[in-house]
Amino acid sequence: MEREAVLVGIDVGTSKVCALIGEVSRDGSLTIIGKGPVPANGLKKGVVVNIDQTVHSIANAVEQAERLSGWKIDRAFVGVGGQHVESQNSRGAVAVSGHNREVTREDVNRATEVARAVSIPSNRDVLHVLPRGFIVDGQEGVKDPLGMSAIRLEVETHIVTASATAVQNLSKCVQAAGVKIDELVANSLASAEAVLSETEKELGVAVADIGAGTLDLALFADGSPFHTAVLPVGGNNVTNDVAIGLKTSLQVAEELKVRHGTCDLRAVGQDEMISVTVLGEEAGRQVSRHEVCQIIEARMRETFELLRSEMESAGHGMLPAGVVLTGGAAQLAGVAELGREVLQMPVRIAAPSGIGGLVDNLLTPAYSTAVGLLLWGAATLAASEPARYESAPAMGGLGRIRDALRSIFP
Ligand SMILES: Nc1ncnc2c1ncn2[C@@H]1O[C@H](COP(=O)(O)OP(=O)(O)OP(=O)(O)O)[C@@H](O)[C@H]1O
Ligand SMILES: [Mg+2]
Repeated sequence: MEREAVLVGIDVGTSKVCALIGEVSRDGSLTIIGKGPVPANGLKKGVVVNIDQTVHSIANAVEQAERLSGWKIDRAFVGVGGQHVESQNSRGAVAVSGHNREVTREDVNRATEVARAVSIPSNRDVLHVLPRGFIVDGQEGVKDPLGMSAIRLEVETHIVTASATAVQNLSKCVQAAGVKIDELVANSLASAEAVLSETEKELGVAVADIGAGTLDLALFADGSPFHTAVLPVGGNNVTNDVAIGLKTSLQVAEELKVRHGTCDLRAVGQDEMISVTVLGEEAGRQVSRHEVCQIIEARMRETFELLRSEMESAGHGMLPAGVVLTGGAAQLAGVAELGREVLQMPVRIAAPSGIGGLVDNLLTPAYSTAVGLLLWGAATLAASEPARYESAPAMGGLGRIRDALRSIFP
């Protein structure tokens, strides 16, 4: 296998930070050669609230991944979460410039710049301007206009933005841990790389990554995203409800949820009892499992209702491929069944797949974002290959990334 590059992805989550080092081969396959998943608590609902703790977690994750792989991490693709992540769609049109009226990469870049020039408040950073499709002399639905003869080129883009200060705080933490940033990637778009098939994206599909503090959402149609959002709900809300309902600690509630919890109340007998430690009481107490699961079901039902209304407001139409659930909290028993009932759509649970190397424990839903960041990086690298029809120099940014990626070879 010929090695093309070594990439790094860092998922800075509410419950964990995970750094992954991956080797991309020429045929595009990904092999994990280093990993560092560490528990974290410097974030609230996907946003950095404690710089020191976050730096510490990132540094630990990076060090673990470095030790396993024998590589030194210089730069990384870093995931961005939090409710401040928002999206909009915008179009831009230009006249095709070349003397032979053939669409070049430069025309595409200019059209994309025009689309990007929508008014975005100065307190927001643009994370992505993703071309969704092109309209060439009025002909809609063109995926790749390079080399086509045309007079007018119009691009439809999906723009993802984030709070500038939240992004700054995250960047600060990554840099203080000794890592430069290749690109900031919306968590949901990274997860989508790890769990969605091309067919699903063409048909229309949603990916919902339910983590500890947030639900990262991206809706796709015709192969690309058209709505990206983050909802401020996750597995922590479920655990909190159980802790309050049973007057017990968060640790005990978390364990109860993971070991005995389900959203499928029909699967729980009315007389099933489980023992729990209660705050301030010496001896354990017996509680009804049905009662615990009612608390869990109610919160998850509310989560799916929020998801449904977000999808409705995005004008999702049909999304024939339904909703793909991932993230740690998608591992809750009965979650797909409840999702189908509330959303009235197909629902499947997904985890990363199709990667090699040190994948123990990584092929579970909690690692979709981390693995997806590597896949995103690999796709960026592939896109920076000189294009067939290229007549203008490649976009500077991508060229720079490509050189930088090469720079981490030992
Ligand atoms: N087996 C399980 N059953 C139910 N919930 C689980 C299970 N395993 C993990 N979880 C929940 O998954 C959540 C953590 O998921 P994940 O690791 O995806 O979050 P994160 O990426 O750190 O957070 P976020 O993306 O919200 O910033 C926790 O709330 C945890 O309770
Ligand atoms: Mg996450």
